[in-house]
Amino acid sequence: MQRSRFFLVSRRSLLAASGGGALGALFPAWPGRGDAANYHLVADSGRAHLVGTTYPETAVWSYNGAVPGPEIRLRQGEHVEIAVENRLDEETTIHWHGLRVPNPMDGVPHLTQQPISPGETFVYAFDVPDAGTYWYHPHQRSYEQVGRGLYGPLIVEEREPIQVDRDVTWVLDDWRLLPDGQISDDFGNFMDSSHNGRVGNTVTVNGRILETFPVRAGERVRLRLINAANARIFGLEFQGHRPTIIALDGQPVEPHAPTGGRVVLGPAMRADLIIDMSGEPGARFTVADRFYRDLEYRLLELVYGDEPPLRMHPLDGPVRLAANTMPEPDISAAERHEVSFGGGMMGGMMMAMMGGRRTDMRAMMQSGMAWAINGVAATGHIMEPFLTLQRGRSYVLAMHNDTAWHHPMHLHGHAFRVTAREGQPTRHREWQDTVLMTPRERVEVAFVADNPGDWMFHCHILEHQAAGMMGVIRVA
Ligand code: C2O
Ligand code: CU
Repeated sequence: MQRSRFFLVSRRSLLAASGGGALGALFPAWPGRGDAANYHLVADSGRAHLVGTTYPETAVWSYNGAVPGPEIRLRQGEHVEIAVENRLDEETTIHWHGLRVPNPMDGVPHLTQQPISPGETFVYAFDVPDAGTYWYHPHQRSYEQVGRGLYGPLIVEEREPIQVDRDVTWVLDDWRLLPDGQISDDFGNFMDSSHNGRVGNTVTVNGRILETFPVRAGERVRLRLINAANARIFGLEFQGHRPTIIALDGQPVEPHAPTGGRVVLGPAMRADLIIDMSGEPGARFTVADRFYRDLEYRLLELVYGDEPPLRMHPLDGPVRLAANTMPEPDISAAERHEVSFGGGMMGGMMMAMMGGRRTDMRAMMQSGMAWAINGVAATGHIMEPFLTLQRGRSYVLAMHNDTAWHHPMHLHGHAFRVTAREGQPTRHREWQDTVLMTPRERVEVAFVADNPGDWMFHCHILEHQAAGMMGVIRVA
């Protein structure tokens, strides 16, 4: 496992690298605390061995020359400062997906900060109140920037860790590659944005096609899954094993077996699994992705080494994680808001507001828009909030997916409890920051609006987001 901190920099070297004054002005209150974690991420174009060393390298965009970018590993409650240097030819930002950061650190271009221009550095600084599995990615033209490889894992360790033999992260991604191994550059085309997004043809784990994953009989592995794909939904099945889900989107959940043995992850979603490696030395088991009917494939094989089992009986230590710090919503007093999603092919949506004007579907499509939230198609990050919430109050969003497509809906700055699906209470009332909605489904989520600011609320199929499926929720 990669635990090292890449490009650890002192305040002094950072100041020198960026010319001093500019950074001081950007970030006047640099605390210079000795106990803060420091990272330096450089966004740049580069090359990666996505498809293995016998194929040509793929031209990518990456952080610190690697796909995924370096794992940022913090302790719960820690303060972190992350300098992001932009060596791309276009503007960028970083959004810390799932972390409840202060609004100015949220990385949304124009809404929470000016985008980072080519050649510039921006320092993000925040505390991490909650443990869990998170990730980071740009919020500027993310359908292309993320799609070319800009993303990385961010892990916040619990104050009281559970006992496992190995803590492993798999960042899953899906690429659309041409026969020469290069990324197809048809980003944001209308076919993708009006259907199920840019689903590719090559799935990688931690930035490469992984044929096998070595394990040892008897060991207990905590497997952190992160779906960094633009659009692909994963439905992973672990042949011969019984994974236990202990966290969703980083947030602790009552430990339970996945429904039907399948771990389903929409784009941006995470799951933490406990897997006891119960096979015999020398055995091999398939991990398959069965989400799309008739398009199942083997993701990789778990390959047991020949060593004798690490232990004869599985560990019986507890796997339940301590709760995070989100306030509990008061459902009985919560204010309810209806939110509906429309558009897409076979959607039947006729009209939407776009750029402040009432527009029919055909005119929308001519400008590349395909989706709307409560009848409004977003054309950029700056817009009037479609909801204004009072800080400290509890809210229920009663959401209706009035489309023929799946949508992983993500709210910034908060986690919400998924309380009902199709009018039925959910079994685990799981905390999530991204909830996958099936076609036509109704889902209710509840949360306390406790983080002031303007927060994005959008579909995390990045082509849907770019084609209008985005809005702003203000916490006043
Ligand atoms: Cu992971 Cu608004 O994004
Ligand atoms: Cu969507």
